[in-house]
Amino acid sequence: MSRPVLQVVAASTRPGRKGIAIARWVQQLAEAHGGFDVELVDLAEVGLPLLDEPNHPRLGQYVHQATRDWSATVSRGDAFVFVTPEYNHSFPASLKNALDHLHGEWADKAAGLVSYGGVSAGLRAATALKPVLAALRLHTVPEAVSIPFFPQFLDEDEVFVANAELEAGGKAMLDELLRVTGALSTLRAA
Ligand SMILES: Cc1cc2nc3c(=O)[nH]c(=O)nc-3n(C[C@H](O)[C@H](O)[C@H](O)COP(=O)(O)O)c2cc1C
Repeated sequence: MSRPVLQVVAASTRPGRKGIAIARWVQQLAEAHGGFDVELVDLAEVGLPLLDEPNHPRLGQYVHQATRDWSATVSRGDAFVFVTPEYNHSFPASLKNALDHLHGEWADKAAGLVSYGGVSAGLRAATALKPVLAALRLHTVPEAVSIPFFPQFLDEDEVFVANAELEAGGKAMLDELLRVTGALSTLRAA
């Protein structure tokens, strides 16, 4: 049986962003986990404009090729890990825009959250993100990774070097994502 597709979504798009190193770490952790086929989805590469579709995404009547391409990408995913910074006590506009572009493509799929920041560990961003994901019928698992003072885990080459607690937290999140993804695939097929 083929493995479910897990997409690791790097939310930060700004030049000089640090989050891409964290997203790469999550990607490697998920590959080592072995339960998923893993894809890194970098919103900086996806490069969506600010939502410019005339129709409600629920209709799936996309007029722009960029939206069609984004729809095809997300449709491929069975589960997502959103790797998000905290900007002004919330998650970045790039991620809200990427979520708002689509509708049914997200539905009845599992989501895990990896947040990072200063003393807050990005938890205010994660908390703000959850109701948005729920509105799209994304099922967020409670196991999450919250990274406080994240620069302490970046080495001189800007590679993210996790400690044992973060590794264990990430593995617990992936285990639960896999469990929920199995149940949701049955729901989607019904
Ligand atoms: C617009 C903006 C707002 C920020 N607001 C917060 C914040 O509310 N809480 C926090 O912990 N860090 C905040 N920071 C600092 C970020 O944690 C830090 O810049 C981090 O590198 C952002 O992630 P990125 O580099 O992947 O974009 C903010 C940074 C920016 C650019």
